[in-house]
Amino acid sequence: KGATPHSPTGAPSKDSEDAQRQQGAYLTTAQGARLSETDHSQKAGRRGPTLLQDHHLREKIMHFDHERIPERVVHARGAGAHGVFTANGAAASVCRAGLFAEGKETEVFVRFSTVLGSRGSADTVRDTRGFATKFYTDEGTWDLVGNNIPVFFIQDAIKFPDVVHAGKPHPDREIPQAQSAHDTFWDFVSLHTEAQFHTMWNMSDRGIPRSFRMMEGFGVHTFRLINAAGETSLVKFHWKPHLGVHSQLWEEAQLAGGMDPDFHRRDLADAIEAGAHPSWDLGIQVFPDTVDSDGVSEMFHGIDLLDPTKIVPEELAPVQVIGTMTLGANPKNYFAETEQVAFHPGHLVPGIDVTNDPLLQGRLFSYLDTQLSRLGGPNFGQIPINRPHAPVNDMLRDGMHQTADHVGVAPYRPNSLDGGCPFLAGTADGALVEVAQEIADAQIERRAPASFDDHFSQATLFWASLTEVEREHTAAAYTFELGKCYEEAVKIRQVEQLAHIDHGLATTVAQGLGLPAPAEVPVAEVVTSPSLSQVGREWPTDG
Ligand code: HEM
Repeated sequence: KGATPHSPTGAPSKDSEDAQRQQGAYLTTAQGARLSETDHSQKAGRRGPTLLQDHHLREKIMHFDHERIPERVVHARGAGAHGVFTANGAAASVCRAGLFAEGKETEVFVRFSTVLGSRGSADTVRDTRGFATKFYTDEGTWDLVGNNIPVFFIQDAIKFPDVVHAGKPHPDREIPQAQSAHDTFWDFVSLHTEAQFHTMWNMSDRGIPRSFRMMEGFGVHTFRLINAAGETSLVKFHWKPHLGVHSQLWEEAQLAGGMDPDFHRRDLADAIEAGAHPSWDLGIQVFPDTVDSDGVSEMFHGIDLLDPTKIVPEELAPVQVIGTMTLGANPKNYFAETEQVAFHPGHLVPGIDVTNDPLLQGRLFSYLDTQLSRLGGPNFGQIPINRPHAPVNDMLRDGMHQTADHVGVAPYRPNSLDGGCPFLAGTADGALVEVAQEIADAQIERRAPASFDDHFSQATLFWASLTEVEREHTAAAYTFELGKCYEEAVKIRQVEQLAHIDHGLATTVAQGLGLPAPAEVPVAEVVTSPSLSQVGREWPTDG
């Protein structure tokens, strides 16, 4: 194992490419034996039959037969790019991670994706977009595995299979779709009302981005940072695109999807190739890591920071820019890089830690687990795109697809045969630190805290923040998507849920669907500031 040499743009260097490139004056078998030709199989006589002894034929077809690997269970369709993150030093006071030191440059690989479509689906569908970044830091790899929407559908990872089953194609007809156009998705959302806020982002113009280059990104969960003095803060991560946030119109998205299903991946690759390198500021919202007078931690202005269905408005906690990322190189090989890259929210570096957000906690299991089958065994960390750019000394041995030639006889510590145990002497400096947390009088239970009960107030806030034209688009999207449901009861239930957000919206959608207006219900009290610039707003462009 070891680092692949990379160029300043983050792309693999020419040396490593040459080693991979298959060149030479003549073709060979996979074993390097020279071939006379590759267009005819060996036959007994000119008219056959074909001979089993033709190793070249069998090797060529055997390899082809196994070219496909399983697509990701979610986020199957994606596009990637290499780049560099440059820190401005602003996070150094709250985080000890070396990548945040002023002026420090760190290579990155980013993969943008849709969530629900298969690998061959269209780019421009109405859906959430993944925004996953691998930072190859000197202290190990840090993955920020986020989305372009700052909240999630569910509060607990145990519901993830359920929400994905509801969003994926119907089991009977296998008709693919995005968030929309089917009964199971709207059935889920109208019954599991914590999903209403995320769904409203999807129905707004944010659900149909113009370009990957013009999307915000969000870490969604609250993370815990640790500084050099061992002090902790809670943060949410934000990517702010220098090109601003822009969407398509629904008609544009449909036309683009029909005429060029690769619209977004082509846009990204063409822009990078043309030298129009997309860039983003990385920012953090910082919250104190304290326990309030009721003995509850991770609360901020009445918002539960462990609830991934809630944002913290930027008026309450401004986003502070801590660095800039520029994507400067396209992948050379889609399969090797974009398809085989393996992100994991548990890939952390010293100074960055997780919190008890129950959605994040489940993700910490899921990614490694799924990659075991997607990438064929436990050694996918050795695939070049997944290799850390820091030295690796992990005592992991053998297994399917092992490519390392490990030296030594004692892959255990301490040992007296192979150089002993350097970290018994104490390597706290620079080591991964898990923040000690007290779990006092805890009972094992399957319940959420009461602070997770509010499912509507931030959706109301979001609606209130939209301009008139954004509201028209959002109401039209609800009407269009719900109009594709076969089950009247599902449509009616969802319209009733919209009444908890805004009765005018619910009435407009009901009219569009030919349904009676729902009864008026008290709209949830907004727990946070009513003027909300984070949602539904364009990030100012700088030219
Ligand atoms: C893949 C984001 C919740 C399981 C992904 C990817 C992103 C992402 C960006 C694509 C990574 C890539 O490009 O390779 C998120 C966000 C979440 C969330 C922001 C919530 C805040 C969950 C949950 C689970 C989950 C709760 C399961 C309990 C998966 C799996 C993959 C995936 C299995 C496929 C990974 C692979 O095959 O490499 N997610 N996700 N995600 N996510 Fe999530």
